[in-house]
Amino acid sequence: MDLKHLRFFGTSVVSKGLFLIATALIIRALVLPWGFGHDLLEFQSGMPRMKYLEVPQIVWGLNNQKIAFARACLTARLLNRTLLMPSLSATLFYKEIDQLQPISFDKVFQFEKFNSLCDGFVRLGRYSDLQNRSNILVVEKGSGRRWTVERDLGQLKDLKDLDEFETIRIVGKNPFLWHDHFPVKDYAKVFECLVLVDEISKEADKVVAKIRDHLGSETNGYVAVHMRIEKDWMIHCKKRELRSNLSEICSSKDEIMRRVANIPGLRRPTVVYLAVADALVEDGLILDGWREGLVAVEKKKLGVLEIYNKHPYLIQAAIDYEVCSSADVFVGNSYSTFSSLLVLERSAKMVRMGVVTGCGIGQGVRWPSFAYNLQAMGGSGPRPWMTSLSGSSLQAISYGSSNISC
Ligand SMILES: *[C@@H]1O[C@H](CO)[C@@H](O)[C@H](O)[C@H]1NC(C)=O
Ligand SMILES: *[C@@H]1O[C@H](CO)[C@@H](O)[C@H](O)[C@H]1NC(C)=O
Ligand SMILES: *[C@@H]1O[C@H](CO)[C@@H](O)[C@H](O)[C@H]1NC(C)=O
Repeated sequence: MDLKHLRFFGTSVVSKGLFLIATALIIRALVLPWGFGHDLLEFQSGMPRMKYLEVPQIVWGLNNQKIAFARACLTARLLNRTLLMPSLSATLFYKEIDQLQPISFDKVFQFEKFNSLCDGFVRLGRYSDLQNRSNILVVEKGSGRRWTVERDLGQLKDLKDLDEFETIRIVGKNPFLWHDHFPVKDYAKVFECLVLVDEISKEADKVVAKIRDHLGSETNGYVAVHMRIEKDWMIHCKKRELRSNLSEICSSKDEIMRRVANIPGLRRPTVVYLAVADALVEDGLILDGWREGLVAVEKKKLGVLEIYNKHPYLIQAAIDYEVCSSADVFVGNSYSTFSSLLVLERSAKMVRMGVVTGCGIGQGVRWPSFAYNLQAMGGSGPRPWMTSLSGSSLQAISYGSSNISC
């Protein structure tokens, strides 16, 4: 699903980057005397002027939005600027940009908490902090085949020295589509600072409590399965299998059920929470056919549909994300951005606790994850999955991979 969006937008923006840089340098020369005086004043008052980066509205699925947000933060860090709190998008319409209902970042994630957790790394600012709203340099990101990663980085480095502009506003492409210059561990650090606002985390807590209570005292925690078998995904992943000459991207319901049933060390009975598209919740068939001792539930069966339905798309996805993130065991598809981001965060949590290899259940692994689209080496279960935090860019996580470290 995520990639479909990519193709739609991929080629629509015309490169004006170099022209703008040239313009910026000329403007810079013109405003220099003013800039100097201003800096002197600041120096005298002892307060360095804060500088900001502004980015376009962040769009598409929850995962694309989280990645885009982190990329914007890391770009601001590269420029030694504070990121002006961007708008996220509450809805998933992606064909017409004006239908993307903006929602302020701090309606979803805690603003102060973000800055305190990420202190010294990246920082978010508010528009009300700006001293001069017209002191802006507008920059359009380059695009197209000839706009290489190196040129993009060069552009950012040139912007780094433009201190006389209080704000640099990048226009054009959604940050999800910008070239990536940052290592996986930097993304992990930004994600770690994203904490849901209380209204939303309480909703997720209610769902988790319902899952944990489902089997009463018999429970052995819960397994969350991000089950992608809806029609849209199947069409998308079959095309992808053809294009990439791979056969391990799509999994049928039967394959997923069989692999989950064969996870070594999984204690039964256990609740299996199915994070699925609404159409599958409606048809109800996904609850049938699970091995004895694996008690499958989804939103409807749990009686939590109303909790979800009160909210727009983005919040619903954030709740489901939280429910999967808290699961004792997570099973997803290594070609899904949602699954990949979850495993990244679960892996980062383990690394913070000192676990170096977190493959499979046992050996002090607190948040084991598995990919159901890949078969375990020498077994019939899903392949254990831990994200390598040493990657030099987020490529594998943004676009999916069968290389999952275990
Ligand atoms: C980064 O910005 C801060 C505050 O604007 C400033 O004090 C600091 O010297 C800057 N660092 C670099 C390396 O430019
Ligand atoms: C704000 O910035 C603009 C553009 O740099 C400048 O022309 C203007 O004088 C500034 N206003 C104040 C109050 O500093
Ligand atoms: C696709 O993969 C199969 C087996 O992995 C290989 O035999 C075949 O040559 C590949 N086809 C193309 C067009 O790469």
